Amino acid sequence: MQTRLDLARIQAARPLIDPIFLDTPLYRCEALEPALGCAVSIKLETANPVRSFKGRGTEVVAGGLAGQAAVCASAGNLGQALAWSARGRGLDVTVVASRYATPAKLARIRALGARLELVDGDHELARERAAAIARHDGIRLVEDSLDVETCEGAATIGLELVGTPFDAVLIALGGGALATGVGHVVKTLASGTEVICVQPLGAPAMTRSWHERRVVTTDTTDTIADGVAGRRPIPEVLADLLQVADDAVLVRESSIIAGMRLLFEHAGLVVEPSAALGIAALLEDPGRFAGKHVVTIVCGGNADPAAFRRWVA
Ligand SMILES: Cc1ncc(COP(=O)(O)O)c(C=O)c1O
Repeated sequence: MQTRLDLARIQAARPLIDPIFLDTPLYRCEALEPALGCAVSIKLETANPVRSFKGRGTEVVAGGLAGQAAVCASAGNLGQALAWSARGRGLDVTVVASRYATPAKLARIRALGARLELVDGDHELARERAAAIARHDGIRLVEDSLDVETCEGAATIGLELVGTPFDAVLIALGGGALATGVGHVVKTLASGTEVICVQPLGAPAMTRSWHERRVVTTDTTDTIADGVAGRRPIPEVLADLLQVADDAVLVRESSIIAGMRLLFEHAGLVVEPSAALGIAALLEDPGRFAGKHVVTIVCGGNADPAAFRRWVA
């Protein structure tokens, strides 16, 4: 297996990350199991100052900035995490986001002291604008999933999973930092564990790309899972995903909502839609997982409160 990642570098990334993001809870959640028909463990990435796993990657990125200003595009969680990592180091950060992004995420980016620029379009337009700012201002462009540090940070989750013999790990798939990072570690150290990526039917570009083994783009996205709603997969990330993922599946919006409701009612967790993708996959294909022990990475908790109430009501 040859990817842009390397186990030694992932292990070396761990000490660069504030311990507040590391060694997150990993536990069997029996209360979920009657509804899902298999043994389910949760890797909980929401109980930290930015309420998502993205802090692991931004800590590695920010550690290498050496005082340099940076700009990133974000659906909300990367920007929040980069703002947090930059604030602690006195670094200047600009976050570019869609003006349709989740308001609670935009508010947190501002509260953490980053400059926030909104574009009148979706996440792909924000990516273009961030690149233009980086060129114009001569500052560092942080590109989620393309910058290997973002993958290495996410990959440290994998180091925390491989001590337990799971049959499968379910991973939300957006740009791919999480899946390629965790997948690299799992396939290196626990190759018998299946790596299954999950995306919404309404934002299928990376999953289709994985199945067709070439970059497939879409013109639009239509999903409540804002953290994974990309349209233009990055070729280098796809190449890695082809090495480390055993499967990539698409799930319906109704299953994502049902997953959020199950996590709320049976696990006491308030999660954003992207974090319920793994549960959604279990709900849609119970036969595949019957009798198995799976782990799902509950990767973000930045739900808009009003929307959350509507979804789980
Ligand atoms: C909560 C959440 N889940 C999943 C993802 C997807 O991760 P990746 O873009 O690394 O594939 C993101 C990305 O921002 C996210 O914020």
